Amino acid sequence: MVPIWNTPPAYFELSNKDMHIWQAALDSPGNRVQEFREKLSLDERAKAERLRFERDRNRFIVRFGILRSILGSYVGVEPVKVRFRYGDRGKPRLCDAFGPADIHFNVSHSEGLALYVFTRDHEVGVDIERIRDIPEMEEIVEQFFSARENAVFRSLPRSKKRQAFFTCWTRKEAFMKAIGEGLFYPLNRFDVSFSPDEPSRLLSIDGDPEKASQWFMLSLKPAVGFTAALAIKGHGWRLHFWQWPDQPTSNLAYQQRPKWLSVKNEKNLSWKQIHIPGSLSV
Ligand SMILES: CC(C)(COP(=O)(O)OP(=O)(O)OC[C@H]1O[C@@H](n2cnc3c(N)ncnc32)[C@H](O)[C@@H]1OP(=O)(O)O)[C@@H](O)C(=O)NCCC(=O)NCCS
Repeated sequence: MVPIWNTPPAYFELSNKDMHIWQAALDSPGNRVQEFREKLSLDERAKAERLRFERDRNRFIVRFGILRSILGSYVGVEPVKVRFRYGDRGKPRLCDAFGPADIHFNVSHSEGLALYVFTRDHEVGVDIERIRDIPEMEEIVEQFFSARENAVFRSLPRSKKRQAFFTCWTRKEAFMKAIGEGLFYPLNRFDVSFSPDEPSRLLSIDGDPEKASQWFMLSLKPAVGFTAALAIKGHGWRLHFWQWPDQPTSNLAYQQRPKWLSVKNEKNLSWKQIHIPGSLSV
């Protein structure tokens, strides 16, 4: 699916059926980097300083600065006051002080592009990858993917394999990030669809299709040369796609309510074909 990224509204409302998906370009001019740096915690600043290359350092600062700015808007605090806690495998969550089991989020970045997903009451996972050559692609599939995924991969013509690999990989990682396990979770314990003709789906977990059917999975083409996927338990989500604005973050004020465009009955359309106007009910 190719989303259309809308300018975000000044006022955010996240109901428990909404999923907000934000895209941000991380290569910002120096003065913007400095602005974001001031929003980070001392730990995050120290972590940024430890990065050897300036480009990585700046992207780290911008990535965290944007995350804090968006979360701050949802919970109504200054970005620098947002506090995180971390799961056993490192998944960041909002501190309970901002509402237990309330806003959930996940972040992924690849080179200069980041995706942020926000939901209420439900854990979510997202992964973005730039599509690139991976010399050991076949070995990774053989060693780590499930038997079904291996069979599908082998059946594809060579020209389709690279795209299929990243489609499969991002779907799998989105699921593993949603459950908070990341790459600690064995990649061959679950199956995802990924041949070019199949819709995005989690097909089975430990061989159980019933368990898998409780999950919603979606692949996106966020920008040319990138692919991404998100995973969340439950169905009936209203998706909103927003582009982080290339302007000072202080412009995000509580002024007006969003004008959302809901597109109904999209389920019957072909996922890979549709271009949607900024939001979608699924
Ligand atoms: C989490 C993981 C899947 C990220 O993969 P990736 O493709 O390199 O990176 P992405 O850009 O997609 O995601 C990174 C973000 O995922 C989030 N994240 C980190 N751990 C996570 C987890 N266990 N589950 C879900 N999300 C996680 C963070 O927001 C992180 O952003 P940050 O690096 O800016 O802090 C991978 O690093 C992993 O599984 N690591 C194993 C867990 C680990 O080593 N934890 C160390 C502490 S115990």
